[in-house]
Amino acid sequence: MEGFLPMNDMVDRICARRSVSPKRLGPPGPSAEDLREIARAAAAAPDHGRLGPTRLVHVPDERREALAEAFAAAALEEDPQCDAARLEDARQRARNAPCLLAVIATITDDNPRVPPHEQWISVGASLQNVLLAAEALGYRAMAVSGRRVESRALRAAFGLGEGEHLATFVAVGSHDGEPKATPRRAPETVLEEWKGEMMP
Ligand SMILES: Cc1cc2nc3c(=O)[nH]c(=O)nc-3n(C[C@H](O)[C@H](O)[C@H](O)COP(=O)(O)O)c2cc1C
Repeated sequence: MEGFLPMNDMVDRICARRSVSPKRLGPPGPSAEDLREIARAAAAAPDHGRLGPTRLVHVPDERREALAEAFAAAALEEDPQCDAARLEDARQRARNAPCLLAVIATITDDNPRVPPHEQWISVGASLQNVLLAAEALGYRAMAVSGRRVESRALRAAFGLGEGEHLATFVAVGSHDGEPKATPRRAPETVLEEWKGEMMP
C-alpha cells in the first residue's frame, strides 16, 4: 500500500524504539508542525466508544520555571523534610529536554460500555504512538512519571478535575549517541497457547 512501510520494516521500527533520558535530550525539539503530527499519532490510538481519554499538554519554555516550582512543591508534599539539594533536583526535572508534554487521562468511571481499564489502555496506546511518532520524525523521547504525578501540587498545576489524571510526562528532543538498549522480553515469554477449557 502506498505510503505504508512494508510490515516487517514497521515491526523493526517498533522494536528498535529506545527511550533516551530527558537529561540526555538536547535541541532541536519538535517544531509546531511536528508536535501536531505527534498529537495526530496520539489520536490514532484505539479508543472504545470514542471517549477521547487522552490529552497532551505542551509545557512552553516560558512556563518551565513555573512547572519547576510545582515539582518542588510536589517533592515537599511527599517529604516535608526534603532538603534544598533534593528540591533543586525536583526543579531540574522541569528544565530537562527541549520539549515536555504532559499526558492527561480523563477516565469516566460510570460508562456503561467502556470500563475504566479500557480507557487507561487507550491512554497507554496513545503514549506509545507519541513515542513512536517522535522517533519516526527523527527525535528521541522518554515517558517519565513517578509517584509525584498524583500530588496535589501537580494536579493543581495542570488544573485537573475529577476523573482527570496526570498519567505521565513525555520528554522529546534530540540525541546523537546510541541509546541504552534495555533488555526486552523474549517473544516466547509474552505469547502462549490457551490451555483453558470451555466450562460445561
Ligand atoms: C507511563 C510510564 C512512566 C514511566 N516513568 C518512568 C520514570 O519516571 N523513570 C524511569 O526511569 N522510567 C520510566 N518509565 C520507563 C521508561 O520510559 C522506559 O520505557 C524504560 O526505561 C525502558 O526503556 P525503553 O523504552 O527503551 O525500552 C516509564 C514508562 C511508562 C510507560
